[in-house]
Amino acid sequence: MKRIKFLLLYLLLSTSALFATGIKTKPIYKDPSQPVEVRINDLLNRMTLQEKILQITQSSAGSNDVPQNRLEVAQKSNPQLGSFIYGNENAVLRNMIQKDAIEKTRLGIPVLFGCDIIHGYRTVYSIPLGIGCSWNTDLYRQACSVAARESRLSGVDWTFSPMIDVARDPRWGRIAEGYGEDPYTNARFAEAAVKGFQGDTLSAPYSIAACLKHYVAYGASEAGRDYVYAEVSDQTLWDTYLPPYEAGVKAGAASIMSSFNLISGVPGSANPYTLTEILRNQWKWDGLVVADYAAIDQLINQHVAANRKEASKLALESGVNLDMCDNCYPENLEALVNEGKLDVSTIDNAVKNILRLKFRLGLFESPYTKELPEKSRVMQQDGLNIVKNLAEETFVLLKNDKNLLPLQKDKKIALIGPLADEKGELLGCWSGHGHPEDVVSIFTGMKQEFGESNVVFAKGCEIDGNDSTHFGEALQAANRADVVVVCLGEHSWWTGESASRSDITLPSLQLHLLKTIENTGKPVVLLLANGRPLALEDVAPHCKAILEIWQPGIQAGVAVAQTLSGTNNPSGRLDVTFPRSVGQIPIYYDRRNPARTGEMGHYQDISSDPMYEFGYGLSYTQFTPSDITTSSVTVHEGQPFQVEINVTNNGQYDGKEVVQWFVSAKADKIARPIKELRFFDKQMIKKGEAKTFKCNIDPLRDLGFVDNKGHHFLTAGDYTISALGKNIQITVTPKP
Ligand code: GLC
Repeated sequence: MKRIKFLLLYLLLSTSALFATGIKTKPIYKDPSQPVEVRINDLLNRMTLQEKILQITQSSAGSNDVPQNRLEVAQKSNPQLGSFIYGNENAVLRNMIQKDAIEKTRLGIPVLFGCDIIHGYRTVYSIPLGIGCSWNTDLYRQACSVAARESRLSGVDWTFSPMIDVARDPRWGRIAEGYGEDPYTNARFAEAAVKGFQGDTLSAPYSIAACLKHYVAYGASEAGRDYVYAEVSDQTLWDTYLPPYEAGVKAGAASIMSSFNLISGVPGSANPYTLTEILRNQWKWDGLVVADYAAIDQLINQHVAANRKEASKLALESGVNLDMCDNCYPENLEALVNEGKLDVSTIDNAVKNILRLKFRLGLFESPYTKELPEKSRVMQQDGLNIVKNLAEETFVLLKNDKNLLPLQKDKKIALIGPLADEKGELLGCWSGHGHPEDVVSIFTGMKQEFGESNVVFAKGCEIDGNDSTHFGEALQAANRADVVVVCLGEHSWWTGESASRSDITLPSLQLHLLKTIENTGKPVVLLLANGRPLALEDVAPHCKAILEIWQPGIQAGVAVAQTLSGTNNPSGRLDVTFPRSVGQIPIYYDRRNPARTGEMGHYQDISSDPMYEFGYGLSYTQFTPSDITTSSVTVHEGQPFQVEINVTNNGQYDGKEVVQWFVSAKADKIARPIKELRFFDKQMIKKGEAKTFKCNIDPLRDLGFVDNKGHHFLTAGDYTISALGKNIQITVTPKP
């Protein structure tokens, strides 16, 4: 007892002495030695209701290529707001706003600056749909870390990326922004993006916070239209659309963006089941949920709120922490509290999540961005090399009759088409702060690789329209060449947000040009630069080779030319199915088996098979797989085992092979897809050599499935494991 009295006396004397000498003790929330949760609670207890509400409000500042993200001057930006979408290309405006926040507000809470850095900041790389075809998550992680460095050095702390919406409808323009049709693929690339953006710790100088989006099932948008209804059963929610988010959350993603779409009648931005029950109660995630742009206000359009006040209450109570740019929260929350319709604790929970992110980012200790010249912030050579290598690995060789490719270096080449000497279109949608003039066009790359005198260019026509008056020049170029490379595809703005298209064929003008060139009798190589799977059934017969290059970013011309010359052997494999026609949609590999097999139930007018299936892609070399071997043919839950396959390179070129491991259940309590991707691996195999590809299998994780409540289970029975067309049978026995 005496000791306690002495301690109390000591504490009383020491604090009064401090006050007496006028030394102000630093508030706990400003003390980096304190635990983050202690700092959060200290700060929260100091905040007024109005300060709390402004903290969970985001506006925009600066200007970029997204019209909605424009607010020209800092003066209009209230420094008490929690966050801004930041559009400028350097940190000057950011620091102006931040200085006001730190020095002119009562508590000096730093502002969080976010931006859509989807596939590169200034060093723009391939669109994500192409990146998924690389099957190289480590290289992608490196590209994301380049984007993170350029972003943080330019005033951005937080990116609204990766977009991990499983998508199976090429009519939907946003299919370009994700990693294709498969849950497992999107999950692995989600992890790679989170690691690349966030590094080892968020407070590191080149780390930025990641944001998994659009949570959830946005890719199931009805008929490929945008912002609409998505019919998703709880079973499909759990076995198809949630796995990438669960992987991203486990990888440490700092934030999640709630989606525009209805999830079977309940908006993604007003959905207590997905936003609170799953994220908080089941996954125990403590990150920040930001609404998509004006999604709270849009709850009125979706007929779940009669007005903005109701929308604000619904979104906040469902689990949306931060209001993006529609001003609903600052306009309505205080009145809802004063009217006894909203508990302050709900606001407190939201405020805690944004403060937690700010503390973890180190913004209280380092709120400002050093204002460096552009040349030391962006477009560094290491980044250019990474994105060139990544572009090369995204290319998918769809056709190569008589090994037309690679082209010999002494060949006279006619380079034709609306995308042959294009720049901006090859950046794709959501190109951040990409500058078209930074892009190496295909024409420039071809001249560098094959020699100026060996390459002749003729545009032939535009991407769309009906003007064929320049076909003549293209014909002249073709007739003087040994081989013709035709570059066709889409505008960059034909994919991305609000970019649905009912027709997924190439514009008829482009097909007309291709057929005109084919009639010269010269061998034709088709390069496709597009942001969605295209229906190529009427295109493929009119060329000898097809290379899908997607929208490969600023190193496009270098990567394409080095691939056509054979310096790079294409190793891409499709992460999304290419339908024969829009009439086949939805069509994807991990479908359920029909009740009747054989020809029963097939289309009467076209084949029911896709034009090019998930995982398809050719190489300049030939790979031969061995049979699969396994360490066990009979296993039970909790008994890991290993399968492996040897692949030999019998061809004339070194090449990278991708091995995708699929599992199939013979029977289960829930009808399972005919096959499910559960692992993939990519290795370089030099010509004449062989490599072993191994897969360590955890029976529950890899052979099991998930039910409509998110519970994983494994059913005893027979399973098939397959890779490269080979397969092996495994039996799971009941758990001992
Ligand atoms: C848009 C998009 C979202 C983006 C946000 C901020 O509407 O849906 O992907 O991150 O607004 O620009």
